[in-house]
Amino acid sequence: MAATKLPVSRPTEVLTVELGERSYSIVIDAGSLDDLGTLLAERCQPQRCAVVTNPTVGKHYLDRTLAALQAAGFTPLTVEIPDGEQFKSFASLTSIYDRLLTAKLDRSAPLIALGGGVIGDLTGFAAATYLRGVPFVQVPTTLLAQVDSSVGGKTGVNHPLGKNLIGAFYQPSLVVIDVTTLSTLPRRELVAGLVEVIKYGVILDAELFALLERDLERLLGRDESLLTQIVSRCCSLKAAVVQRDEREQDYRSILNFGHTLGHAVEALTDYKRYLHGEAVAIGMVFAARLSRARGLCSDETEKRIVRLLERAGLAVDVPHGLSSADIAAAVAGDKKVSGGKIKFVCVEDLGRTRFELVTSQEIARLAVHRGADSE
Ligand code: NAD
Ligand code: GLY
Repeated sequence: MAATKLPVSRPTEVLTVELGERSYSIVIDAGSLDDLGTLLAERCQPQRCAVVTNPTVGKHYLDRTLAALQAAGFTPLTVEIPDGEQFKSFASLTSIYDRLLTAKLDRSAPLIALGGGVIGDLTGFAAATYLRGVPFVQVPTTLLAQVDSSVGGKTGVNHPLGKNLIGAFYQPSLVVIDVTTLSTLPRRELVAGLVEVIKYGVILDAELFALLERDLERLLGRDESLLTQIVSRCCSLKAAVVQRDEREQDYRSILNFGHTLGHAVEALTDYKRYLHGEAVAIGMVFAARLSRARGLCSDETEKRIVRLLERAGLAVDVPHGLSSADIAAAVAGDKKVSGGKIKFVCVEDLGRTRFELVTSQEIARLAVHRGADSE
């Protein structure tokens, strides 16, 4: 993982995800959206390309994106998908293929995802499959997408039987992150993305965790230089994980910290009550509790995690009304379960984790048990 500075006046961060012939740069900066065309032209001939976005993001950033591409000699067409997780679907995928085929975009034409994780995952899968694969560029505009989903090459769509069940590992050729796009992001979405930032601190980087404890309010106030610093640190951590285990054979699953119970809570509340990050916050607190219950981490570690999430305004308790049978069934249905045991990510100390094999019943029992210390 190399971190270099570009010779421009702004404090641009450029990281490289080292994956052999699939290596790519992540450019992080306030204002980098306007450099998209130039950055892309450094990697391929200016030509026709397609920008996939939704109306919410498009109204703020599509004109600038198109202008940046045109200024560098590209001829972009736009594909607009309605806003919402339910549109990370086969139907949306078909509408992207239809548009590209009708416009006769060829194999060298890049697909550019302008939006959050929904647009990124969908566009990435379209890029992986259109004409057996075309170049793919991520321009993430949510905090979650900037620190997590735009890096690492997980792409896909939802199936009626479950989220993210159909997809491919397909790395982008370039990621351009403009932290100023977060200025229009609703606060609830910002906070949900912050959960993934806090997650990196818990699992990999105690210093990042301490920085968040110190500067949380500045971050929630969207201080651009702090955002650039933090997004860059998270991308660097994610890149290191992906470099070590690109296809999640083993180590990459540490990124699932908090996600086992988080996914169950999301599913059991019909994906309506919580944003993904909000459910993961509950899952992270649970994972810390389970770790402490197994004697792996201290009370103080658990308390620091709870305190930081609460300061960000997040709920941390498993919602009342979920039965232990429902939780066990939801956890057991997770696609990461094998042989009846879940490889559960526990925390040992801030910045340090270990995998423990846990049954869904154990998780469910502890999740609904509200002892004196969790009241
Ligand atoms: P999202 O893409 O639905 O975006 C959240 C909302 O914010 C949407 O309404 C969107 O239109 C809006 N929005 C986006 N950018 C904006 C901006 N700058 N200003 C104003 N509004 C803006 O949600 P998300 O949290 O970004 O992503 C969630 C998706 O990411 C899920 O489908 C999840 O499965 C996926 N995901 C993928 C990975 C991966 O590794 N590929 C990792 C985590 C999550
Ligand atoms: N978001 C988890 C991963 O990319 O593996």
